[in-house]
Amino acid sequence: MRLVSSTLMMCALAVRPAFAQDDPVAGERAYEVCAGCHGFLGEGNQTIGAPRLAGIEGWYLERQITNFRDGRRGHVDGDVNGARMALMAQAVDSERELGDLLAWIDSLPEPGSSSGTAQSGADVSSGQRLYAPCSACHGSERQGNESLGAPGLVSLDGWYFAEQLKAYADGLRGTHPSDSYGAQMRALATSFDTEDERQDLARYVMTLQR
Ligand code: HEC
Ligand code: HEC
Repeated sequence: MRLVSSTLMMCALAVRPAFAQDDPVAGERAYEVCAGCHGFLGEGNQTIGAPRLAGIEGWYLERQITNFRDGRRGHVDGDVNGARMALMAQAVDSERELGDLLAWIDSLPEPGSSSGTAQSGADVSSGQRLYAPCSACHGSERQGNESLGAPGLVSLDGWYFAEQLKAYADGLRGTHPSDSYGAQMRALATSFDTEDERQDLARYVMTLQR
């Protein structure tokens, strides 16, 4: 019995109960506070370190918002941007509101091209070489793989992509004991940790950007 109820609990933790009535109109209202940093169209704002949200898979946004809210992300000293977002995630105080927010973000048109670029001088062919091991999880077209928990990379801003690789390598992300997806990614990010490599990768990933 005990086993059954803990299994049920794990399911409840893993999967947000589906509200048939996820409401993008209520989500639009809830999103107003997010727009201050992420932009009204979810286009992102590099100056304040807030990434683009439009075009990112709902399942991945959901995991990251709950990671911030539940202390798995944004908890390490020195993670200034993460701490800022963790504070905002506290405001998403019900599963209903989370569903509405995701429905609204899902309705935003995908921006044409990313804001911000990799540094000039970054080497696309070196990036392509470095990308080889990444494709096992993120896909050869950088389309992501939900069953592995690995997000698509095509809609990410180049600057955010490089910053997050550094955050994993530096242990700002992927070090919380219950962040198993983050830990997988951190293992990869620590295998190459020079800024040049990160910029080359960012430049390569952006060549396929929508
Ligand atoms: C005060 C500015 C600010 C506000 C307001 C804000 N965010 Fe953020 N958000 C950030 C920053 C900065 C990051 C990047 C954190 C990092 O670098 O780890 C971020 C990251 C995220 C991410 C992670 C994306 C990814 O690909 O890793 C999601 C999802 C997100 N925010 C959703 C939201 C939602 C939904 C709201 C409204 C409830 C919101 N944010 C409000 C600043 C903000
Ligand atoms: C073993 C599978 C695996 C491999 C290989 C892998 N990743 Fe990941 N990656 C993940 C998972 C899972 C996540 C989500 C982690 C989380 O939830 O924090 C992720 C997240 C990311 C993110 C953060 C995206 C965001 O919006 O927050 C970036 C950037 C990234 N990976 C780039 C890469 C690059 C570049 C490589 C190759 C050097 C790579 N990954 C190799 C599994 C993998």
